[in-house]
Amino acid sequence: MSDAQTPPMFTPFTLREMTVSNRVVMSPMCMYSADDLDGTPTDFHVVHLGSRAMGGTGLVMTEMTQVSREARISPGDAGMYEDRHMEAWKKVVDFVHTRSEAKIGMQIGHAGRKACEPIAWKRNTPLTEDEKWEIVAPSAIKFGPDSEMPREMNQSDIAKVIDDFVSAAKRADDAGFDIIELHAGHGYLLSSFMSPLSNQRTDAYGGSLENRMKLPLEVFHAVRAVWPDEKPMSARISAIDWNDDGNQIEDAVEVAKMFKAAGLDIIDVSSGNVTSERRPVTPGLFQTPFSEQIRRDADMPTMTVGNLAVPEQINGVIAEGRADLCCVGKGHLYDPYFVRHAARELGYELKWPNQYPAAGAFNPNPEIMR
Ligand SMILES: Cc1cc2nc3c(=O)[nH]c(=O)nc-3n(C[C@H](O)[C@H](O)[C@H](O)COP(=O)(O)O)c2cc1C
Repeated sequence: MSDAQTPPMFTPFTLREMTVSNRVVMSPMCMYSADDLDGTPTDFHVVHLGSRAMGGTGLVMTEMTQVSREARISPGDAGMYEDRHMEAWKKVVDFVHTRSEAKIGMQIGHAGRKACEPIAWKRNTPLTEDEKWEIVAPSAIKFGPDSEMPREMNQSDIAKVIDDFVSAAKRADDAGFDIIELHAGHGYLLSSFMSPLSNQRTDAYGGSLENRMKLPLEVFHAVRAVWPDEKPMSARISAIDWNDDGNQIEDAVEVAKMFKAAGLDIIDVSSGNVTSERRPVTPGLFQTPFSEQIRRDADMPTMTVGNLAVPEQINGVIAEGRADLCCVGKGHLYDPYFVRHAARELGYELKWPNQYPAAGAFNPNPEIMR
């Protein structure tokens, strides 16, 4: 296949000094599998992220990895707030770097008013009073009727959150991650500052969109200052709140412009999850129009996410300039070799790992003979 015939999905893409060999990103997905119940990733994470990297994905992203103990959604969340977390993550990073062509990124976050929940598959068993911890948010407003009531953050809470993000970023660099993404979407702490539905502060951190962006931008600047120049940064946002009183796409374009002016390299465009009200179930690439508009109007690289399932969709998104990278979440849970299988379908030759060239001779659709 000549360069001109390379499917758009398999063209490389560069941010600062990081080049990914294709446009597919494994979307960040919480796995609640820190078995010490205090943030330490395990062999599960080596296999989980390592197998997608061997599966050909250009960039694998960790789950939302929490910047402090109190920042965890659940006791099973992975963290980056202790040196032992860094050492455990380094094993994951080293595996990906030595055994695959993939780059690996860490999504760092703070759950804010969505913290202090049971592990996903234990949601019917609420945490006991002993297991709970105090949660913080821009305003004392619950996420949903069954959520804990957060305490409104004061200036020293804000200073601690910024420090915690900075420490996590330094550890992520020590572990060897190639890119870092701030989770500023889905109603978690930074997102809850950005949305008027959850931020009703009357100080400099509330009110106008500029004020509501103050903390996310302070975190960004502080992290950027310690994150090496050659390594790019991303931020995931909720482009819209799916609520007439919340942020709309025009706000997201302004948010992207503010992040871009601060030096953000790429914006990862998701939506919703800022309150417990369910958003409408939307088929198709329902979030890609948001990515497309932000990419055009804020004139910056974007990632799109949501319901990407087949290579034709990814080729279309890239060829039509609707996003620069395509995050695949559930598709990667279904098929760790999503990208290799897509290459086969497109007739694109993707080099197999040294151990697996025989897989190239496998015929997944043989004529059935006895
Ligand atoms: C099990 C699971 C865990 C998730 N955890 C995160 C997360 O940690 N951070 C995040 O930004 N999004 C998270 N998401 C959202 C996904 O990254 C993605 O945006 C969403 O699943 C839509 O993409 P898809 O249709 O390809 O699955 C999670 C989704 C799933 C299914």
